[in-house]
Amino acid sequence: MAILCLSTVLPNFDQWIKNLHAIDPTFDLRTIDNPGDLADITTVLAWKPDDELFKKLPNLKFVQSTGMGIDHLVECPSIPKNALIARIIDHDMREQMAEYALYGALKAYRNIQYYNQYQTEAYWKMKRRLFKEDLTVGVLGLGELGAYVANALKDYGFNVIGWKNSASKPHSDISYYHGQDQLPEFLKQCDILVCLLPLTEDTRNILNKETLALLPEGAYLINPARGGHVNEQDLLNAIQSKHLSGALLDVFQTEPLPKEHPFWNEPTIEITPHVAAMTNPITASQQVAENFKLIRAGKLPNNLVDLNRGY
Ligand code: NAP
Ligand code: GLV
Repeated sequence: MAILCLSTVLPNFDQWIKNLHAIDPTFDLRTIDNPGDLADITTVLAWKPDDELFKKLPNLKFVQSTGMGIDHLVECPSIPKNALIARIIDHDMREQMAEYALYGALKAYRNIQYYNQYQTEAYWKMKRRLFKEDLTVGVLGLGELGAYVANALKDYGFNVIGWKNSASKPHSDISYYHGQDQLPEFLKQCDILVCLLPLTEDTRNILNKETLALLPEGAYLINPARGGHVNEQDLLNAIQSKHLSGALLDVFQTEPLPKEHPFWNEPTIEITPHVAAMTNPITASQQVAENFKLIRAGKLPNNLVDLNRGY
């Protein structure tokens, strides 16, 4: 079993390889610079790989994402349909995401998005105080990250509601809505909206002119999920018309966000460069190594993705 380690954008990819070798020196780890015979490769470790490469791997059986998201793999049509795909599920990433969402929710609750705008105009104006228990924070997606984030926001004192796909109970005791039919009722209540959906055919562009219009006047958007969830022009219009009071965005349709993108010049939009929850290669290497061992033993890996539903 040879493992090809691929990454187009990870700054610390060498560290993954060192860690994996340290855990099990018998792993046959190869990199794109020195891949050997491509017919040996049965496993790929990847973040945002180039789809073309998969056409050259006739014996691929398993792809391990170095992140929690797998949309970058689902979007590779050349990965064989019968290959298994697994993702990272790491508590450290839940905590980072909760910190990110709390930061955004606190910003909106304390009216900082307005003060950021006023600062660009040297304008001294106090806003009316808000009370956090009167603010409803809605979390789209109550999966590994969304349920944890919802609990953290609730523990802080916000009124939290959620929206998910099926009626099954999430790992959170907040009240929740489910399915497309209940989306409008959910959105109408969200003073602050946190998107933590996976990017699938059903959720692409879910935040658009129609759905953003359902949010209460002055609502604030936090999107650390995927840029593909948001119609960026519709969001900009909603912010410039003051229907929304601003947004905290970590992910974009095109990354890196192009220099000429209008979001850079919008004072009530705060931008971070896809860092809301970063994989820790030290802890994540342990679970990746475990999956390589399971595959080597002919067993199913942990944290498999259900490719029929796309997440
Ligand atoms: P996950 O565990 O797969 O969670 C999926 C949740 O979304 C579930 O509650 C699911 O509902 C719900 N859902 C899926 N499709 C839906 C639909 N069509 N309608 C309504 N609800 C739907 O995802 P996760 O691991 O928490 O990740 C959340 C997002 O964060 C992903 O987009 C991921 O790529 C992103 N992420 C970003 C960063 C970053 O640094 N910015 C880091 C890690 C992850 P059910 O429970 O009913 O199935
Ligand atoms: C980051 O975006 C991840 O999916 O882990």
